[in-house]
Amino acid sequence: MEIFGIRSINGQVKIPGDKSISHRSAIISSLAPGITPIENYLYSEDCIRTLEVLGKLSVKIEKRDNGITVYGSGIEKFKEPSEVLEVGNSGTTIRIISGMLAAADFMSVLSGDSSINNRPMDRIIEPLSRMGARISGRCNNTMAPLAIFGNPSLKGRSFDLKISSAQVKSSILLAALHAKGDTEISQPEISRDHTERMLEYFGADIEYDGKTTKIKPGKILSGREIYVPGDISSAAFFIVGTLICKNSHTIIKDTGINPTRSYFIELLRKMGAKIEIKNRRESNNEPIADIETFSSVLSSIEIGKEAIPKIIDEIPALCVAASFARGNTIIKNTGELRFKESNRMSAIVSEFNKLGANIEERGDDLVIRGNRDLVPPENTVDSFGDHRIAMSLAIMGLPSEGKVTILNSACINTSFPTFKHELQQLVD
Ligand code: S3P
Repeated sequence: MEIFGIRSINGQVKIPGDKSISHRSAIISSLAPGITPIENYLYSEDCIRTLEVLGKLSVKIEKRDNGITVYGSGIEKFKEPSEVLEVGNSGTTIRIISGMLAAADFMSVLSGDSSINNRPMDRIIEPLSRMGARISGRCNNTMAPLAIFGNPSLKGRSFDLKISSAQVKSSILLAALHAKGDTEISQPEISRDHTERMLEYFGADIEYDGKTTKIKPGKILSGREIYVPGDISSAAFFIVGTLICKNSHTIIKDTGINPTRSYFIELLRKMGAKIEIKNRRESNNEPIADIETFSSVLSSIEIGKEAIPKIIDEIPALCVAASFARGNTIIKNTGELRFKESNRMSAIVSEFNKLGANIEERGDDLVIRGNRDLVPPENTVDSFGDHRIAMSLAIMGLPSEGKVTILNSACINTSFPTFKHELQQLVD
């Protein structure tokens, strides 16, 4: 992708459906007997992988103009897949579906691309095994491909997890839904709660208060219609793009503003960002709104470790904002970024700095020395096949006076296939 000194963006955009909510809507509705029409399902590579995996388990799913319809059957009606379940680049697919398949009465094998097959899977294998799951993985049970020998007699357990991860929590919850006995999960910090909200919406017996989630199995879920709000993590790129470009003003319609996901907006406001949330409403247990952003003069901020799980996917975009702010920004405890689609800690440092940023990896922290007058130089940068790095680099290139070339940008299709088109609309 090439970005030629654009300098200002203006207009209204509608961001495609939320990736996390799309995955969950397809997976949870397949477990809920009945028909679930899902509007605005994200038709990106990652979310298509989830549909393909469910299809191989014999779940009936129809594609429609602006969504899909899932004919939920419950896990008892799933069939043993005759092929490997390929998840591509999608961590959410492999981790959440493994939890579900741990409770099936058949065997399955899950595998992904080279990034997925080198990301840590022991974080799900260990807790699921404690519930009675039989899962084997490569590298001494730490990595995919995973072989899951389903066990319909899992047992509910209490977990005090060391890492706050919504994927791990959701994996356990889907196993717990089919286990005997209650399950309780505590995490050190708040992580996204879409699984809890959706299970509640479908009729599960679940309680959650941020750091702790309790689920009682036994309730039969039932299919209901879902509207997937726009993905706030995708919106983040246009929000930051608007802030750092002069004379810019954007409105992003129908975006999810779940507080476990929208915290970066509060942080940006503390940095001086002019962002307004309008037209608040709710759909299937998820808050939605329109987000209006204006060019702003930004100052640095210190972000503590308790915030990290709530902004985990927005840290690259926040680093772009901090690079154009006055003063030094510190983001503490960002070590989890090393286990994402790429090693995001090192990708941020090496590639953002090629565009004039001054970012340092200090132990597990990121230190960004901001420059209000930053004009990124013409250069070629690499996304390392990581969609969020690619889109952050594109946004960082907007105020450049030259041409910014982003290598390996096709990965943007994993979460935001219309990114280039929407950006073009804001420029025209
Ligand atoms: C996700 C959770 C986060 C996030 C990922 C999507 C989810 O991962 O980074 O993009 O949908 O549950 P972790 O749970 O591993 O932090």
